[in-house]
Amino acid sequence: MTDAGDALRTADLSRTFSGFKAVSGVTLEIPFGGVRTIIGPNGAGKTTLFNLLSGLLPPSAGRIFYGDRDITSLQPHRRARLGIARSFQITNIFGRLSVYENVRLAAQAVYDGKAGFFFPSRSMRGVAAKTESILGDIGLGAAADAPAETLSHGDQRRLEIGLVLATDPRVLLLDEPLAGMSPTETQATVDLIGRIGDGRTIVLVEHDIDVVMRISTTITVMQTGQILAVGTPQQIRENEAVQRAYLGGLA
Ligand SMILES: Nc1ncnc2c1ncn2[C@@H]1O[C@H](COP(=O)(O)OP(=O)(O)O)[C@@H](O)[C@H]1O
Ligand SMILES: [Mg+2]
Repeated sequence: MTDAGDALRTADLSRTFSGFKAVSGVTLEIPFGGVRTIIGPNGAGKTTLFNLLSGLLPPSAGRIFYGDRDITSLQPHRRARLGIARSFQITNIFGRLSVYENVRLAAQAVYDGKAGFFFPSRSMRGVAAKTESILGDIGLGAAADAPAETLSHGDQRRLEIGLVLATDPRVLLLDEPLAGMSPTETQATVDLIGRIGDGRTIVLVEHDIDVVMRISTTITVMQTGQILAVGTPQQIRENEAVQRAYLGGLA
């Protein structure tokens, strides 16, 4: 996979639930690099689109491509191995284990998968270094020895992002990473997203429009399962159809 071309692309992607079109004919291109944010009212189909991109749900119609590769029917773990990873709100955290152990186990799983058992000491050093580096990225170095279950909600969500980072994702899918966070936690997580964006594509679903305008490279607006608009934050702010959909809420 080179940096050129599209990281992720969909062609006429749809998902129906008992006849109801949650995602309807979505064609989008998410080029490599930067922060792509998907916004739209509740029920617009944002989470369903994420479920299709990560492979959690099969589409009813349409295709998904990663680079030149058609990944429409790949299972989530196969997509993760290609570098498309998604965070699963807290459910992957082992509460009784320390923050350090949680990250180490996630990093270890990747080394076990990649390096095998031929160079155990080298891979152990690699795992330790990677664990430290991720703890630094997510800002939880000082909490390394704390049981994960004792962390605040915001810290747990950052730990969850750390667990995904351990898999070396090229494309990171984050569904409402700021949900339920205090202003301080929100700022810490926004900083985190900024730090981990280098050499990766971040795809976000987010409601906090101030944050969205600040951190997005490109915004895709969804409404009733379809794409209403795509553009830079400035273009989206000035888009009349978007303004109508949000009743002036973006002004
Ligand atoms: N598993 C499901 N079964 C039935 N309907 C669903 C399912 N998942 C989502 N929907 C419906 O699809 C629409 C889009 O939902 P969703 O993708 O969660 O929207 P968003 O994340 O933008 O709020 C909603 O009307 C929702 O009720
Ligand atoms: Mg949603």
